[in-house]
Amino acid sequence: MVIGSGIAGLSYAYKVATHFETYHRKVSITLITKASEDESNTKYAQGGIASVTKTSDTFESHIQDTLVAGDGLCDREIVRMVVTAAPERIQELIAWGSRFDKNEQGEYDLAKEGGHSDHRILHHKDATGNEIERALLEKVMHHPLIHVLNHCFAVDLITQHHLGQKVDRRTPDKKCFGVYLMDRRTHKIHTLLSKITLLATGGGGQVYASTTNPVIATGDGIAMAYRAKATVENVEFIQFHPTALFNPDESPAFLISEAVRGAGAILKNHRGEAFMKKYDARLDLAPRDIVARAIDAEMKKRGRAHVFLDTTPIEESFFKSHFPNIYEKCQSLGINPAKEMIPVVPAAHYLCGGIKVDRNGKTSIHNLYASGECSCTGLHGANRLASNSLSEALVFSHNAFLESIKEIENIDYNEQIPDWNDEGTEIPNEHILVIHAKKEVQELMSAYVGIVRSDERLGRALARLKLIHEETEVLYEKSKLSVAICQLRNLVNMGYLIISAAQARRENIGLHYNIDNIKS
Ligand code: FAD
Ligand code: SIN
Repeated sequence: MVIGSGIAGLSYAYKVATHFETYHRKVSITLITKASEDESNTKYAQGGIASVTKTSDTFESHIQDTLVAGDGLCDREIVRMVVTAAPERIQELIAWGSRFDKNEQGEYDLAKEGGHSDHRILHHKDATGNEIERALLEKVMHHPLIHVLNHCFAVDLITQHHLGQKVDRRTPDKKCFGVYLMDRRTHKIHTLLSKITLLATGGGGQVYASTTNPVIATGDGIAMAYRAKATVENVEFIQFHPTALFNPDESPAFLISEAVRGAGAILKNHRGEAFMKKYDARLDLAPRDIVARAIDAEMKKRGRAHVFLDTTPIEESFFKSHFPNIYEKCQSLGINPAKEMIPVVPAAHYLCGGIKVDRNGKTSIHNLYASGECSCTGLHGANRLASNSLSEALVFSHNAFLESIKEIENIDYNEQIPDWNDEGTEIPNEHILVIHAKKEVQELMSAYVGIVRSDERLGRALARLKLIHEETEVLYEKSKLSVAICQLRNLVNMGYLIISAAQARRENIGLHYNIDNIKS
């Protein structure tokens, strides 16, 4: 079973299916996804996918850039593995039908983003994720061994806990037997058993009020895995993208790709100063943690709600052809990027931590794998290098595929699992409270657990979240489940994990910056 229909889940499902089809083996792959099959963070990826594809670039240089961005917390071996495997995985993506832009000489038109010392980002205009999602879905939806269940919500992973055994984080040999699943059309909860389960549920940007992530990004997989007593790591490292379009009434926030800075755009404050020179020698293309903190400092210093991205150095025809969606979006708001500056503000964008996995995507629970943004692989350390996540998902889904086709032979279904029991629960008559609670979580996370943190802010956040947690658990226990209640519970779980990890991290590193920490 695969949970999630972004790049991680789709590429894994297709590989497993193709393998078993080749050997005429009977296997059934069920891919479940909580919304329509194309809804995912993947679909909105703009800038592209980072990989060494030209002869003048080197693996060593991509490795070094990743390590520098990760601020000393990356796993060097994992970085090497992902960087060196990425070109082959991307070739597969191309063979499956994904198209990346080429220049007039027929070579890939490689873009540059923050923290990269070379042009190495393959892209499809400014809609790379949409192109990848399209090609992968075309393969997956037509494959006879894959059954896609859309609008089906994974509620909880099934472990020995559901057989009445005590399971905690130290219990050895924890096993995953499948998942409880809610069909959103009927509201029925089904028991779905599986020999192997891959969590590919993406990130949790929706835990913040201002985010580039779509509404599906509620950290469900991480919260489920944590409740099932898997190991979760590094979730304090929330990457805020420096340049979301400042348009307060719009949610999620529209992204102005870093590739626009790669093409020559410059950040400026309200006085028209190109302020990045005060913060880092790499200027506007410094790693994201540095640029986002610099913007935050400028905004606070001047009491402003945004800064500007001066796109006027980019020729209009270049802008239109390379960034057609961004151009159109700006035009729709009356901004001509060729003549005017774009108001921008940082927004929660990417979760660098998640469910801890080994190099094959295996979690600390048997038969449970994780890949993509919900996982913590060791690649990103304390700050992800731009456009490294799509390649990470491909590489880990490939490794998980190789491992799971070996392992599946030795796994049996567990037939003893009880069905979901919702005896004594009722449909809540105050659904509005769920909506208000979600908003409260998002607001408190943005206010107290943002780019710059302090002990007092984190303490306040935890105290407020505790109250919402208690109320949510009471509601969860007595209610007939709905997706809204489950997502609220997952967001509260995510908030807890992020705050606790932030409180425990006593040094300022990468994306974690606490003014009360000793070393900066
Ligand atoms: P996703 O693509 O998010 O897919 C998660 C899937 O899980 C979805 O189908 C969702 O519906 C499903 N799901 C979640 N919970 C449940 C549940 N409870 N039950 C059932 N299904 C569930 N990265 C780059 O490398 N380059 C870029 O240029 C880039 N640009 C980006 C631009 C934007 C605006 C955003 C938001 C992100 C960008 N990223 C980029 C990050 C990158 O897109 C993601 O990290 C990556 O796509 C995640 O892929 P995934 O398969 O792990 O998860
Ligand atoms: C962007 O296009 O700026 C997003 C790239 C990323 O998040 O990796």
